[in-house]
Amino acid sequence: MNSPLDSDLIKCILAEDDAGFDQIFPDRIRALSRVHWTPLAVVRKAAAFLVQTPRTRVLDLGCGPGKFCIAGALFTEGSFCGVEQRRRLCQIAWKIIKTQRLANTEIFHAPINALSFSNFDAFYLFNPFAEHLPSAVQDRIDDTIDLSESRYDQSVLHVSTELRKAPWGTRVVTYCGSDDVIPSDYECVVGDLHGKLRFWEKRANRKDSGQEKSMEVMSALTTL
Ligand SMILES: C[S@@+](CC[C@H](N)C(=O)[O-])C[C@H]1O[C@@H](n2cnc3c(N)ncnc32)[C@H](O)[C@@H]1O
Repeated sequence: MNSPLDSDLIKCILAEDDAGFDQIFPDRIRALSRVHWTPLAVVRKAAAFLVQTPRTRVLDLGCGPGKFCIAGALFTEGSFCGVEQRRRLCQIAWKIIKTQRLANTEIFHAPINALSFSNFDAFYLFNPFAEHLPSAVQDRIDDTIDLSESRYDQSVLHVSTELRKAPWGTRVVTYCGSDDVIPSDYECVVGDLHGKLRFWEKRANRKDSGQEKSMEVMSALTTL
């Protein structure tokens, strides 16, 4: 059953009111939201694409304090899991999930590399590994993580290897980059926000069904 606060959060999601939704976070985490946590307008589109049935299990790779998972679970019937390397961010997410008594939302404290993707149906990435690149130094969340380009390469390799093992029809959304993790048998069926938001699907035969599928997905997303 939803807690009373859930209805306020759902109103924020529907109104795409990020400032209102972000009140669930402590000040310092809220201040990071504009750059590091997914905007609600993006959560709505991505979650609607990823959740195909009430049994869909979505994994947010690098979930931060859980904004995408919490909003996605409130907005759809799917289950949302997040994996996050920073314990402090996990603790914030765990506290919100507990106090709001949120169902269908779970957060793991672990590096992405520790996780097999076989328990999940769909995947979301908001540029999780960019902080390892020199170009992102000024936008770091904090200095608790050792950064290196070799960790970037290992993480990209792990994600692309796991996605390659996933069954046909697996859906992935990438926001602000992260395309380098997408294996070649995934097709970008729709792009949005000038290409910053991309919707991918693993295809057995990309050429045959691509255009038809793009039209179908496009029309589903425009009704949101
Ligand atoms: C840009 S934030 C996105 C947060 C969240 N997905 C959202 O959309 O609101 C990227 C997050 O990925 C986490 N991250 C980066 N590399 C990771 C790794 N190898 N394992 C687990 N988490 C990681 C970072 O700590 C950060 O919280």
